[in-house]
Amino acid sequence: MSRLVIISNRLPVTIKKEAGDLIYHPSAGGLATGLNSLDESFEKIWIGWPGQEINDEWERATVQEDLKKDGLYPVFLSQQDIALYYEGFSNKTIWPHFHYFTQYTSYNDDNWEAYQAVNRKFAEAVIPLIQEGDMVWVHDYQLMLLPAMIREAFPEVSIGFFLHIPFPSYEVFRVLPWRRQLLEGVLGADQIGFHTFGYMRHFLSAVYRICGFEHHFGMLTVGNRLVNVDVFPMGIDYEKYAHPEGEKQLSEASQKIVALSQQQKLIISIDRLDYSKGIPQRLRAFASFLQGHPEYHGKVSLVMIVVPSRANVPQYKALKHKIDNLVGRINGEFSGFDWAPVQYFYRSLNFGDLTTLYKAAHIALITPLRDGMNLVAKEFIASKEDSKQGVIILSEMAGASNELTEAISVNPQDRQDITDALIQALNMPPEEQRARLESMQEKLRKYDVKNWAANFIKEQKKLMESQRAKI
Ligand code: UDP
Ligand code: G6P
Repeated sequence: MSRLVIISNRLPVTIKKEAGDLIYHPSAGGLATGLNSLDESFEKIWIGWPGQEINDEWERATVQEDLKKDGLYPVFLSQQDIALYYEGFSNKTIWPHFHYFTQYTSYNDDNWEAYQAVNRKFAEAVIPLIQEGDMVWVHDYQLMLLPAMIREAFPEVSIGFFLHIPFPSYEVFRVLPWRRQLLEGVLGADQIGFHTFGYMRHFLSAVYRICGFEHHFGMLTVGNRLVNVDVFPMGIDYEKYAHPEGEKQLSEASQKIVALSQQQKLIISIDRLDYSKGIPQRLRAFASFLQGHPEYHGKVSLVMIVVPSRANVPQYKALKHKIDNLVGRINGEFSGFDWAPVQYFYRSLNFGDLTTLYKAAHIALITPLRDGMNLVAKEFIASKEDSKQGVIILSEMAGASNELTEAISVNPQDRQDITDALIQALNMPPEEQRARLESMQEKLRKYDVKNWAANFIKEQKKLMESQRAKI
């Protein structure tokens, strides 16, 4: 079996320094949670950043040793790398720009320099680990230059690249001064994957207009190489959410969630704190629902989990204040002595509490303004495997809405649309809930994360064989 060499900015574990000790936490975010589910099916190693600046040589050695047991290889980033490459070019330029928040795009040459330098740092970490027959799989927007850097060192190795976020329309993409370098970096791969057909189409159009390569059914000829560009919508580990293993004893928080769900209809909202997720718009829509429908006061609660993310980037800080304020205003205006409409938690949940919340919730309100995929939507649906009861309201701007066609689809900017969707969800007959869920569950069960990876790899292998046959 050939080895899979996964490279992503973030490893599936994030280290935090707590009272001087290094503590390992599971990483949040779809890339880490999704890819981490490939455990048994592939022999793999994973190279990435452990999420914490570590300068002490002894600490670095300890971390290396600890992680190696799980096939993880850390790339250590300095404070400057974190500020300019991670918070800077990755999260102040590419992330906002690719999510159509062009008003937030920063055009900073120092950040671009650091982005190139850190991509090079990743290349230097990966190159000594690659063995004959390995398949290399580079992930996401932080490492768009890496495929070409690896290609330079290993002209024959098979390289895949997957973008976990949207690829914007050419008219938006072309604005970036570094557009050509980003495309040329990615084109170092043999296969390039996207979550949706729309993202792929935008990418191919940018490649044609900027680099002049025309595609034929998604196949590009780049120099003497063939590059396959295709759609691979990422799935989840279905069984893990359908039948979560864990302590049979529910935590205190989980017990409270279950008790609350027996008294009220629970609407859940779970995201990283990110402007792409549309959290303030969602809160305003919920307030307008409460305003127009006093008959639901005391009967419905919005349980909102906001997972801390990228807290040093100014827009994220500002968003935190906005959300705190809005929640305060809504609860101030509508609460009764025995009921608060919004239960707000600014923290991440452990797996047990997360799955209890999914199972206990009646409605998932998932309304990103833009989202590459949105795995929370899929996890919620899987968690309803046994009960077949629950309704999902999903933004049409989430990649997942292409597959989850039985969700109630909404425009995340349209308060009336969201209010109507809430009323429809609260009154949906049990048989209709079951029918919609069953249909979505069937798709998610069939095309789970293991299938997603297997499919990507199978296509990449096919390509490799046809390239060899040509030589
Ligand atoms: N998640 C998590 N901790 C939490 C809440 C959620 O790790 O407290 C996970 C969730 O299960 C999901 C991922 O974070 O797998 C979020 O992925 P999604 O695709 O929805 O959004 P992203 O954060 O990648 O933009
Ligand atoms: C999204 C991105 C991932 C990223 C995750 C969490 O899912 O596509 O690449 O890891 O968000 O963000 P963070 O900046 O904490 O890694």
